[in-house]
Amino acid sequence: MNIVLGISGGIAAYKTPELVRRLRERGADVQIVMTDSAREFVTETALQAVSGRPIRSNLWDKEAEASMSHIELARWADVVLIAPATAELLSRLAGGSAPDLLTTLCLATEAPIAVAPAMNRVMWSNPAVQANRDTIVDRGMTIIGPEAGSQACGETGAGRMTEPDAIAAIVCDPRFTGEAAAGRLAGKTVLITAGPTREPIDPVRYITNRSSGKMGYAMARAARAAGARVVLVSGPVSLAAPRGVEMHSVETAREMYEATHEHVADADIFIAAAAVADYRPAQFADHKIKKSSADSVSMALVKTDDILASVAALESGPFCVGFAAETQNVRDNALKKLEGKRLDMIIANRVGASEGFDLDENTVCVYWPGEHRSFPTAAKTDLARDLVGIIADRYAVTQRDEAGGVSGSVVSLRGNNGS
Ligand code: CTP
Repeated sequence: MNIVLGISGGIAAYKTPELVRRLRERGADVQIVMTDSAREFVTETALQAVSGRPIRSNLWDKEAEASMSHIELARWADVVLIAPATAELLSRLAGGSAPDLLTTLCLATEAPIAVAPAMNRVMWSNPAVQANRDTIVDRGMTIIGPEAGSQACGETGAGRMTEPDAIAAIVCDPRFTGEAAAGRLAGKTVLITAGPTREPIDPVRYITNRSSGKMGYAMARAARAAGARVVLVSGPVSLAAPRGVEMHSVETAREMYEATHEHVADADIFIAAAAVADYRPAQFADHKIKKSSADSVSMALVKTDDILASVAALESGPFCVGFAAETQNVRDNALKKLEGKRLDMIIANRVGASEGFDLDENTVCVYWPGEHRSFPTAAKTDLARDLVGIIADRYAVTQRDEAGGVSGSVVSLRGNNGS
């Protein structure tokens, strides 16, 4: 595995020679790219000795560029790892600015990017830093840590860089690069719905829900990484379109239904991750509804079409995967939906004020006829990779069954059997 290790100027940079050793022990080839301020904390000599490669830092270094240009370096990387990442570096990544070699590489690479922030606890909790963190997570980068504990500045709190061995274990895992799933969906088309829908009441009001679209977008990225052509039908979200994915933006449940059915004929797998409104106002007022003297009003709602059930009912339709977001009786409700909608698989999770929606982490259990597998709490991006792996496995089994072959066993990437 080729890893570009970007080092920015934080005190935790003193741990990077150790990090390089841990990465190399796991078989990685490491090319270091330092920012100018990183030199204040760790020497080029030490890093060159442990990595066995000349250090890169200057975008304008003609000799280094001649041997491997920054674009070639961006292509060479299987993973770009930035450790430590300072508040300044997070800001540059979030803003998409590229004043130096490291940030230029981040814009130019198609490899997954992992970022291990390290800074004073107050800096880490600053809303501007948290907003930058959220932006880069939404764009598909993986944040590792930071951990809570005593800090070099003498304070105690969240902001310590994750230990080198733990960082190396995460980025060298074949699941991180999608290598484990690579090519497993090559030649397949995966159609995904994501996000909420908006059902208009009048020109200024609508009914919607708390879905952020994060899980559906993560599934789209993971399916793309597994080699699929991905068509994403998305309700209104504030997320960047995943790279290499065909996007169709919609607002209402009706529009989502139509866009889905427009593309379903090409789909081998359909993943319904959207939180579709079950009801919409029976009438749309052309003008803003004015407040009346009545203390209470009621509104008639009519059922929307169930997109997932309609796709699952198609003759020779795709392999259908639903999501069940439940506040209670997760298992029973999920199983009812699996059977009721005649699905191949359902991914169930508990939702509530502090669970499921609009968070970066999720805890799910996957059910398919006669079996289930639970997954520990994980970042939605990591979870999506595992879920796409399990979907690819089940899809392959059903294909073999349809072709008259013998069912194979399901290979788990992370999940453990149990409830
Ligand atoms: N779904 C859909 N179209 C709808 C409603 C739901 O495609 N009109 C899909 C969702 O994308 C999800 C699954 O159906 O994959 C389950 O959605 P959910 O809203 O949890 O289930 P419902 O069947 O609507 O039941 P309830 O709201 O009572 O839980």
